[in-house]
Amino acid sequence: MERFNDLADFSAAEIQELIALANRLDHTPEPQALEGKVLSLLFLNPSLRTLASFQSAMVRLGGGSFVISPDMSIHGLETRPGIVMDGEAAEHIREAVPVIASYGDAIGIRAFAQRRDIDTDVADREFDELAGLAGCPVINMESAIQHPCQSLADWKTLDDLNIPSNKGKFVLSWAYHPKALPLAVPSSTLKMAAMRGMDVTVLRPEGFELPDAVMQKAQSLAEQSGGSVTESNDRREAMNGAHIIYAKSWSSTRHYGDAVADKALREELVDWCVDEPWFEPARDDCRFMHCLPVRRGVVVTDRILDGPRSVVIQEARNRLYAQMAVLYRMLKG
Ligand code: CP
Repeated sequence: MERFNDLADFSAAEIQELIALANRLDHTPEPQALEGKVLSLLFLNPSLRTLASFQSAMVRLGGGSFVISPDMSIHGLETRPGIVMDGEAAEHIREAVPVIASYGDAIGIRAFAQRRDIDTDVADREFDELAGLAGCPVINMESAIQHPCQSLADWKTLDDLNIPSNKGKFVLSWAYHPKALPLAVPSSTLKMAAMRGMDVTVLRPEGFELPDAVMQKAQSLAEQSGGSVTESNDRREAMNGAHIIYAKSWSSTRHYGDAVADKALREELVDWCVDEPWFEPARDDCRFMHCLPVRRGVVVTDRILDGPRSVVIQEARNRLYAQMAVLYRMLKG
């Protein structure tokens, strides 16, 4: 495996094989599998789970890793193309990426969306340029439009919970958040659930529709898997018979790149905080998913997060085993 960037680059059978490997490595450790191998980790944005789980994964497989991020004592890092570097930054990302990559056998890169231009972000141009500089296998640790490690872990979590693939009802719901957040998690989650063959409803207020390219890709994946993808702004209709609600906030696509207009629109939507009444039309055993970090009392209430519906800790734990499987295939073959 040369690149782990998008679950849709793989067949459903290949994803299932990765999840079987993740389960095997969970139950039967292989502490020497990646002996002598090094994973370079470049974080241009903050992280808890991705940072810790990749380091833990390499240790558990007998290899090592190192982390570089702008808030460490490195030279100031410039990321803008074509810039005259007469300011604070002393090093450009165009040299930093190949240098960091040359110290390892594979590199993980996190580079969030700039959220200035939706076409640039949906095309994932910044990440593709960074990945193209690496010269070694690349793992996407969240870019403008992809978060494949989260989605692989979430697919495994759905399997662990015995949520049916065909005829399983999955609601991807927008939730309130005071900030405009990237599209990576909702876009990747939607494609994951569609590939898994689920009946997916994107529940979102007006102005927060996911980009057409993302919806069309998900619809095409659903056609192949026997699932379906629909959109709704009617919470009751969307939640009817749901097995899963996956909550996430994201930027207004109507006002993408316009922080003032986005804020004005989202300020009217503080009641999009997931709480028990949302589940009334759903199945009794409907579960709550979220990639974390999550703002308590804003995105979801304490009683849902702390109650039996929540599987957020299982999702986070599965990041470790999902990524161990990816590293194993990438570095061991
Ligand atoms: N879900 C996720 O990627 O978490 P972090 O941002 O903490 O890595």
